[in-house]
Formats: sequence, C-alpha cells, structure tokens
Amino acid sequence: MKQITIAGAPAFTSPNSMTLICTEKPDGSTNLATVAFWAFASTDPGKIMFSLNKGAYSLELLAEKKELVLAIPGVELTGTLIGCGTCSGRDTDKIAQVGLDMQDVEGTAIKAPVPCKLLIHATVCDTMDADDHVVHLCDVKGVYGDEDVDAVFGWNGYAEFAAAQQK
Ligand SMILES: Cc1cc2nc3c(=O)[nH]c(=O)nc-3n(C[C@H](O)[C@H](O)[C@H](O)COP(=O)(O)O)c2cc1C
Repeated sequence: MKQITIAGAPAFTSPNSMTLICTEKPDGSTNLATVAFWAFASTDPGKIMFSLNKGAYSLELLAEKKELVLAIPGVELTGTLIGCGTCSGRDTDKIAQVGLDMQDVEGTAIKAPVPCKLLIHATVCDTMDADDHVVHLCDVKGVYGDEDVDAVFGWNGYAEFAAAQQK
C-alpha cells in the first residue's frame, strides 16, 4: 500500500454519498449546503451526524434554530451539488440562483429540493469541535424515501457526480 493524505482518501471510498443540508434562514426561506461528511449514528433512537466547516452560514443557522432536513438528492440535481457547495447562503438565494423546485417536508417549515431519494428531518442534539469543522449529532424526527429516484454520488472523491449503478 502507498501512503496518501486524508484529503485524498475519499477517492478510495467512492462512490461517496452526497447530501444537501437544508436549514431555515431568518426570513423563513430555506438554505441549502452541499455536505459530503455525514453518517448514520444510531438506529434506536435514530441519530445522524454530519460535519460543517467553520465558515459555513449553515453553522450559524443551526446554532440558532437547531433544525434541518438532510436531503439525498436525485441524479437530476448533480448541478445543485456544485451550485450549493461553492457559494454561501449568507449573501445568495441559492434556490433562486440554481433554479430549484422545492417540496414541503412533513413536520417542518424547511423545504427540500425535488427530486430526492431520501429526506431526514432532524434536530441538533449535540456538537463537537473538530478543528476546521464542527460535528453535529442530530435526533431523527422523520424519514421519507422515494424508491423511484436514483441518488447522485461523488466519484473519484468528489471530482465527478453520477448515479452509483447503471440500470
Ligand atoms: C462536493 C462538495 C462537498 C462538500 N462537502 C462539505 C462537507 O462535508 N462539509 C462542509 O462543511 N462543507 C462541504 N462543502 C462545502 C460547503 O457546501 C460550502 O462551504 C457552502 O458554501 C456552505 O454553504 P452555506 O455557507 O450556505 O452554509 C462541500 C462542497 C462540495 C462542492
């Protein structure tokens, strides 16, 4: 085996699951942030975790409202991963800029883009400093899936985006 950097490691775990973390802005609109660093954390009760860089506006929004929808986007939303991962909701209306159709999510005012394979409504129960990121541990409030949607994955790390299998 050869020694590599941690930044190069995701190329060895591809295809990598991709998410859009949906949060509520002060004006009630939804902000979307592309997040690859996420995992299931517990099943009974349900918990998920994800890691947010310290410059992310989503970090501020979650410190305030502690509620989110973790969305696993369909392959049609490949461009959205770039669009929502390369600018900040602090000074951009990403939904308008990317041109997204949004759907209601049961039990919350936060909306999610269309189409998605999986939506997880959750609230932040704990955070942990992780140097350049902050790990968020969240209680799952509701889970919604659509078997007909193909999820988009990161390939070669996050250099390319595509479905995980050909049909
Ligand atoms: C492919 C890809 C994966 C990303 N994964 C993460 C991640 O896991 N955690 C993170 O904090 N930011 C990640 N980002 C960067 C955020 O999406 C970016 O900082 C974004 O501007 C945050 O939006 P916000 O400021 O509206 O919260 C990723 C970006 C891309 C393009």
